[in-house]
Amino acid sequence: MTGRRIEVLYTAETIAERNRALAEAIRDAGLSDRLVVVAILKGGFVFAADMIRALHHAGVSPEVDFMSLASYGAGTTSAGTVKVLRDLQTDVTGRNVLIVDDILESGRTLAFAKRLLVERGAARVGVAVLLDKPGHRVADIEGDFVGFTCPDLFVVGYGMDMGHAFRELPYIGHVVDAD
Ligand code: IMP
Ligand code: MG
Repeated sequence: MTGRRIEVLYTAETIAERNRALAEAIRDAGLSDRLVVVAILKGGFVFAADMIRALHHAGVSPEVDFMSLASYGAGTTSAGTVKVLRDLQTDVTGRNVLIVDDILESGRTLAFAKRLLVERGAARVGVAVLLDKPGHRVADIEGDFVGFTCPDLFVVGYGMDMGHAFRELPYIGHVVDAD
């Protein structure tokens, strides 16, 4: 019988260690003052939950809000249109903002989010992504704080899904056919 298994790319320990270093880099970049962390749902929720606690350990006390974005397209690639499914409740005018998301791939999602927050008058907008997949960039955006540069594979776990499955995995891996 043919099944599927997950090949681990980043363990929970590796991710936790990297999160600590990212939080210190965010603090040292001077974003801490009146910081609002904007977690992008759904994929960014696990990373954001760990990042705010890593920020606490780095001496940063952010506010936290959520924005649910969907980029429409078929299957495992994201298309051109980004839609706000759930907006922030926080007024970001004059605030430092850290956008936190799972993956930067085409960049459409995060370019959209960053533009929106800048238009709303945020003071500084930083972008933290756990994974960067630079091979498919379409929009002009880079992460300011990047966990790992990821191989060009479809990854799951640590908040990231494939067909709504696998978000609960404490590690990041990719799905392979096992026979
Ligand atoms: P983009 O940068 O606008 O192309 O979209 C990035 C978003 O696509 C991420 O926030 C994820 O939600 C999703 N995504 C891209 N690559 C993967 C993957 O390998 N696994 C799971 N979701 C992915
Ligand atoms: Mg996403």
